[in-house]
Formats: sequence, structure tokens, C-alpha cells
Amino acid sequence: MLSVGVFLFLSYSTAPVVLGVPPIKIQPEQVHLSYPGVYGSMMVTWTTFDEADSMVEYGLLGGKLFEMMAKGSSTIFVDGGSEKRKLFIHRVTLSALRPGFTYVYHCGSGAGWSDIFYFTALNESSDWSPRFALFGDMGNENPQSLARLQKETQVGMYDVILHIGDFAYDMDEDNARIGDEFMRQVESIAAYVPYMTCPGNHENSYNFSNYRYRFSMPGDTEGLWYSWNVGPAHLISFSTEVYFYTDYGLDLIVKQYEWLKKDLEESNKPENRKSRPWIITMGHRPMYCSNNDHDDCTKFESLMLLLSPHITKLPQPLLNANFARVDLELWAHEHTYERLWPVYGFMVYNGSREEPYVNPKAPVHIITGSAGCREKHDGFIPDPRDWSAFRNSDYGYTRMQVFNSTHLYLEQVSDDQNGKVIDSMWLVKEQHGVVAWV
Ligand SMILES: [Fe+2]
Repeated sequence: MLSVGVFLFLSYSTAPVVLGVPPIKIQPEQVHLSYPGVYGSMMVTWTTFDEADSMVEYGLLGGKLFEMMAKGSSTIFVDGGSEKRKLFIHRVTLSALRPGFTYVYHCGSGAGWSDIFYFTALNESSDWSPRFALFGDMGNENPQSLARLQKETQVGMYDVILHIGDFAYDMDEDNARIGDEFMRQVESIAAYVPYMTCPGNHENSYNFSNYRYRFSMPGDTEGLWYSWNVGPAHLISFSTEVYFYTDYGLDLIVKQYEWLKKDLEESNKPENRKSRPWIITMGHRPMYCSNNDHDDCTKFESLMLLLSPHITKLPQPLLNANFARVDLELWAHEHTYERLWPVYGFMVYNGSREEPYVNPKAPVHIITGSAGCREKHDGFIPDPRDWSAFRNSDYGYTRMQVFNSTHLYLEQVSDDQNGKVIDSMWLVKEQHGVVAWV
């Protein structure tokens, strides 16, 4: 039976002509959350393919369903492909949420509502222990870690997910239909906890437009660089791609540098460091790696080392610089997992021989880009440099918990080995900031 369409039998024709009514595409899909960086708030983002209102109805778990409502707006995203497909990206900010309380919500409008999802509002105190799942390089095809992440997220193992660049492979492909499909896939995790992102090289088409429009990160840079606080940590997300896709503007390098310098100066102020002692960065392409694919990080003078704000092969002159005061640097891009000893300017600064991660005198680097994608795994060179502590090429992802002002725990999950934890470390810092390096 035809549900849509009208047959008109024209007198001069023997064949019926169908006058199709265009399908109504206002059903919300691709629902995902992000934290706007303002306490007691949460951003809900979704997509429709026709114009519709932007509303979220929500309520406390166990209370009356949808007793509250917030309105937002939509932005039209025209993909750069030949079809110039048009997407409506809806954004609604929920505010005055009660930290630590769980809310049930759906989004859409009177013309169509999403499924029901739930989230827990982030605790606004610096005195709690946020739990993260983090990874990079997860694609629409072969997203091997996703099933495990779905279950773990939905049973409440994580407060935040960090996706450290390279989505879908690639979001712009097939006139951005791959982006749609990927965002549908990750709804199963991203609709439940804030899904915080940074751009990778696979987002580069049409000036990163799929990335810039589809995600809703704090600040006013369309997610290219931003920072936010959670528990005892200050998290900085930045774009390594400004150094590689310079056709989109050399000024981005300068703007990001100036912003990062200011952000680090501010977060390093003693009063801020007291409440948020951990400074953690995330960016897509690593400064160091021991892979065998000739990527930038395999080179002695990698572009990331030369051009990033962490410049220098000589650590001493920068001991007093803000750049050296980052505790932990999270990277992806290499489809492997690698844990580095505390390193700065190619030199290892372990806390001690027995306890290298207790009071280290340089940032610790983690590369975790093995979530799974169509490009499969990467390999390693046989003899890594001194700064490489542990390497593994299984598909998987990283768990991290910032326990308190002195202790941070991190472990690597192998999906290939049915969720086995194949590496773990405690990073212990009794002091943060410049005093920690002296
Ligand atoms: Fe990449």
C-alpha cells in the first residue's frame, strides 16, 4: 500500500504518474551531549533534515517525566559535497541542573521527538573524581571498541568521553552521509555523557565544516580550541591541524597560540591551580611516537615539536614557562596505544628510578588512537627511543580517573582481548606547576 503519493491518471497517457509528496524529515536523530563549561549546564545537539523547532523536555529520574522544557535554535549546515546536502543542527542548553542528579530527556518538537535518554549533571565541585573514557580514530566502518564502550557508558562507568580527533572516516564522505551514519552510531554513548572532541586530520574537508557544525564545544571557536574544568582538572583541547592545513589560515596558528598562552597563564595562577591542580591537554597528532608509518611524530624534529606551543629541544630555558607546567598530554592519530615516560625535549624526567610516575619533572604523554577504523592498526619500529615505556597495537581505548589533587589513574583496555586491562599507571604529583619541575 502506498502511504505517500497520489496517482493521477492523465487522459492522454496509459501510464500512471506519481506526484510524490516529499518525505518529512523532522524526526530528531544523532543526539549527543556536551558540557558547555558552565556549572549546572548541559548542551543537547541533534540533527533533522527539514526545519523544525528545537526543544528539550526533561525531568529528574524518578520524578515526573518531562516536567521541564528548554528551547534553543538550529543552524543550517550545507555540506561542501556535490549534492550540497542541507542539515539542521539543533542546539539547546539546559541550565540550573542539580549537580550529581540524573535527568531523563528527549529532544525535538511537537513535529517529532527523539528516543528517551538520560544523563547525570556534572558535579561542580573540584573535590570529586571524574571518570573518563578516551580514544581517537574511531570510524563508521570497523569501530571495534564501540560495543564495549556502549555498554560501559550505559551502565554508568563514565562521566565524560573524550574523542581525540578522527571521526567516521570521513564525515564528509558520500555527501556527509557517512557523518550522519557515524553520529547515529555514537548516539549510543554520546547521548548519555558529555562527548568532548578535538579535530583530527580526517575532518579537514571543506575547512573542517562537518566537525565545526556537528559538535558543540565550549567557547567561540566552533570546537577548534577550548578549555573547561571538571573535578580537580583543567582540560585543554586544541587543534594540531592548524599546523598542517595552513591553507585555511596561518592566523589560526597565531590565534590558538595566543589563546593557549593566556589559558595556561590563567590556569597556572596559584589560586586556580589550588582548586584545579591537574592540567591535561588533548590534541590529535602526537609530538612523539615510535610507530613505523613515517608520520610526523616519528621524525626527530616533528612539526608538532617544532611548531606547537611546547616548542624546544632544550628543556631548561622553559622551566619557568607556562608551557612546561602541563601534567598530562593525551594524543591519538597513531592507531596504537603508547605510554611515554615523563618527557620534555626528548629527555626523560622520571620522578625516580623506582617510581617514575611519582613526582615526575615533565609531562606524561599517552597516545590512544586504536578505537577502530577502516585503516586498521599501525605498527611500531623495533627499537623505540628511551622515552617509550609501553606499546601495544590491539584495538581498544583508555580509561582515566582523576582521583584527587595528587592521584590520577589511567588504564588501557584491549578490545581484542575481550576487555582485558593491558596497561595501567598511577600518576602521582604532590605538587603541580613550576614548583613540581624544580
Ligand atoms: Fe589522524
